[in-house]
Amino acid sequence: VEPLNIALAGLGTVGTGVVRLIETNAELIARRARRPIRIAAVSARDRTKDRGVDLSRYDWEDDPAALAARSDVDVVVEMVGGSDGPALALARGAIGKGKGLVTANKAMIAHHGLELASAAEKAGVALKFEAAVAGGIPVIKGLSEGAAANAIERVYGILNGTCNYILSTMEDTGRDFGDVLAEAQRMGYAEADPTFDVEGIDAAHKLSILAAIAFGSRLRFDAVETTGISRVKAADIEQARSLGYVIRLLGMSEIDRTDGTARLFQRVHPHLVPFDHPLAHVDGATNAVVAEGNFMGRLLFQGAGAGDGPTASAVVADIIDIARGEKGAAFSMPEGELEAMEPAETGHR
Ligand code: NAP
Ligand code: HSE
Repeated sequence: VEPLNIALAGLGTVGTGVVRLIETNAELIARRARRPIRIAAVSARDRTKDRGVDLSRYDWEDDPAALAARSDVDVVVEMVGGSDGPALALARGAIGKGKGLVTANKAMIAHHGLELASAAEKAGVALKFEAAVAGGIPVIKGLSEGAAANAIERVYGILNGTCNYILSTMEDTGRDFGDVLAEAQRMGYAEADPTFDVEGIDAAHKLSILAAIAFGSRLRFDAVETTGISRVKAADIEQARSLGYVIRLLGMSEIDRTDGTARLFQRVHPHLVPFDHPLAHVDGATNAVVAEGNFMGRLLFQGAGAGDGPTASAVVADIIDIARGEKGAAFSMPEGELEAMEPAETGHR
């Protein structure tokens, strides 16, 4: 059987996790993919860095864009990050050359997902991004496949592992915000620029992707009203606790019918969550997504939302899907007329 030849761009937390997973579980993955997965080439900025994995048997490219041009590559896996720049150039190049694309990059999908999905559909290749939302939880698959027959009313949850780690650790230990953030960075949870985490932007990227899939609406990251946790103080957490609440950063999207027409509400901000709500017990870098549909009722997806192993698990699941012949993207063009409310409206709802 012919192997599926892949190229890995980005060898940081996620990229090295993918190398380790593919090497450790090679036989099991080949069985499930119905063919071996072969890493043909890799790329990152610094060729000399010790990454704790042996890369000597893989071709090295200094420029990630070169991976898309290689004739021995079927699928490019983008784990560089950033909404534009080298990640986007690589994504466009890979699809343009008729290669499948797997990405963990929610910033790029939130900003350019529709363009990339439509290019992938035209080229007849796959665009997969399970790892972009909620790390190891298969929530893209869950909503686009498992919940496909439902009219969804509401999708919400904890979408950023770094913020949840900070809030729940401050709550448990009384430690300082900056100190816990530094720990989340060391654990590989935070974005290269952690402002994206603590200001709620990363959660907003993920919420806009989830909403586009759940509601079949146009992906509108700019319509998400966003407030992060950078101004949450230890005293706020203590006061919330004394009243029977914990503070959690939630992303919330739902159909709003207050003015008689159905529109999409999308907002990320710190919420007071009562002790008896399941989301109050989601601690550490765990994520949880709740989806409510008209026939399935309420689904709760919960698991590790960040870190090398869980994220690599989602990336490699996408590679396996492509090896089995999957094409296209979880969303393409909007299927209905559901308009998004603008941030100025949602903030005052
Ligand atoms: P990371 O540890 O910072 O790794 C980024 C990698 O990209 C590094 O290997 C870096 O090379 C390479 N890189 C950066 N800029 C480059 C450039 N201009 N040209 C070539 N290579 C470049 O990041 P990460 O945490 O693995 O995240 C990667 C992606 O996955 C991001 O989109 C992130 O949002 C997403 N993600 C991360 C997690 C997580 O838990 N960390 C979870 C889900 C999704 P050097 O190593 O040589 O510097
Ligand atoms: N920085 C992100 C988080 C990584 O903390 O959730 C996972 O997407």
